[in-house]
Order: sequence, then C-alpha cells, then structure tokens
Amino acid sequence: MAPKIAVIVGPTGGIGSAVAEAVTASGTYDRVVGLGRQSEPRLDLLDEQTIEACADQLKVVEGEVRLVFDASGALTLDGSRPEKSLREIDPSHLARSYAVNTIGPALLMKHFFPLFPREGRFVFATLSARVGSIGDNRLGGWYAYRAAKAGLNQIVRTAAIELSRRNPEALAVALHPGTVKTPLTETFAKSGLEVQEPEVAARRLLDVVNGLSPAETGCFFDHLGKPIAW
Ligand SMILES: NC(=O)c1ccc[n+]([C@@H]2O[C@H](COP(=O)([O-])OP(=O)(O)OC[C@H]3O[C@@H](n4cnc5c(N)ncnc54)[C@H](OP(=O)(O)O)[C@@H]3O)[C@@H](O)[C@H]2O)c1
Repeated sequence: MAPKIAVIVGPTGGIGSAVAEAVTASGTYDRVVGLGRQSEPRLDLLDEQTIEACADQLKVVEGEVRLVFDASGALTLDGSRPEKSLREIDPSHLARSYAVNTIGPALLMKHFFPLFPREGRFVFATLSARVGSIGDNRLGGWYAYRAAKAGLNQIVRTAAIELSRRNPEALAVALHPGTVKTPLTETFAKSGLEVQEPEVAARRLLDVVNGLSPAETGCFFDHLGKPIAW
C-alpha cells in the first residue's frame, strides 16, 4: 500500500500546530507535511505561485495525500480590528480578509484537489468560523471576517460536489473550532464562552474529521460534530 500523507496548512498557528502534533501522534499517517509561510517550500495564501509550487512538490513525494487540514486564516489584518459598525467598513480591509480567508483556501483546493486519490477515503477540512454562518448571525459586526468565512463556506460546498464526482469517498468540509486560546483570539474571547486549549480543540476537530461519512461532504460542522446552519 502507498504511504499515507497528511498535509497541514498553517502549522505555525495556535490551532494548526496542535493539529499537526495530534496528527503526528496518532500514527495514522506515514508522513505529515506542514505548509506555511515559514516552510520549505513556502506557502503564502496571497501568492498563488507558492501554492502551485507546493502542490508540484507533493506530486513527487512517494505516497498518497489522504488528509489536507487547512488551519490558516486571519481575523485582525495589518492591525485592523474587526468592524463594529457599517461606518467602519474599509474596502481594503474587506478585500484583504477575502484574500486570506476565502481566496487562499479556494486556491488550495484548486491546486491540491488534482493530487487526491481517485479511490479510497480522502478529507479536505478547512477552518471556517461559526460567525461565517448567515443563519446563525444574531450579533452583527465583524463584516469582513463574517463575509469572508461565508464565502469560504460556499466554495467548500461547491468544491465538495466536484470532488465527490471524482472520488465518491472523498470529503470537503468546513469546520468551526470553537473558541480557542490562540493569538487570533487574544483580545476578543468573551467571558462566559468556553475557551479551549489548542490541544483540546485539535483532538475534537480530528475526532470530527475521522468520524465523517462521505454523505456528510460539503457540510459545516462545529468541533463537537454538530452541523451549523449556513
Ligand atoms: N481561535 C479561535 O477561537 C477560532 C475561532 C473560529 C475560527 N477560527 C479559525 O481557525 C483558523 C486558525 O485560527 P488560529 O486561532 O489558530 O489563528 P492563528 O494562531 O493566528 O494562526 C493562523 C495561521 O494562519 C496562517 N496564515 C495567515 N495568513 C497566511 C498567509 N497569507 N499565508 C499562509 N498562512 C497564513 C498563519 O501563518 P503565519 O505564522 O505565517 O502568520 C498561522 O499559521 C482561522 O481560519 C480562524 O479564522 C479560530
């Protein structure tokens, strides 16, 4: 049997580093590859050529990619905090949030999906956020981040349909990690919410990924495996 490869995008992040450790410790994969702005080859979501170059590199690694876990993303960009009201909308902040949170993962799917095996289980999981749910939006605010994650959710759903035509056992899902103690939440986590350590969130997210059936492709789940409204 071909060696099994897991790819973690964003292995330097709070959640990404814990996911990379948990995937390695599980012993399920023969090789765990971390790709990000500090890896070699480098992967920058804002630079399509780096994503293509990483995909090309994976093509020559012996084995089959069976998991891609995308733990990248950003809430605060270049010091711009999330908007509290419409008057704070800034076109360049909105565009940058889309570039990192929506377009970057879309390019990952574009260049990585052709690598995936045509038979057998494969999972592409990307970290979205509950605040990207339109049906669940009761608080308002955070325009750019919410819209960018909603856009990501639509791309996951659309790509999942294409992916399952290629391999009926392959899945693409959007996941909400819960509130996790990482640099991203440092100044935002509200009291009263359960704030998880990254190791706990990583374990829960991997349990969700491992428990998914092909019929659940194209869906949006939280860290406990509960579906979230689009
Ligand atoms: N923490 C939470 O409570 C929470 C809640 C809901 C959703 N999420 C989502 O979970 C994901 C991970 O969050 P986190 O809390 O782990 O955040 P984090 O600690 O800030 O990690 C973010 C990761 O994204 C990478 N990244 C950012 N811009 C990039 C780019 N242009 N190219 C390549 N990589 C880039 C970072 O790489 P560098 O090291 O190179 O910057 C880092 O590895 C995000 O999508 C976030 O929206 C988190």
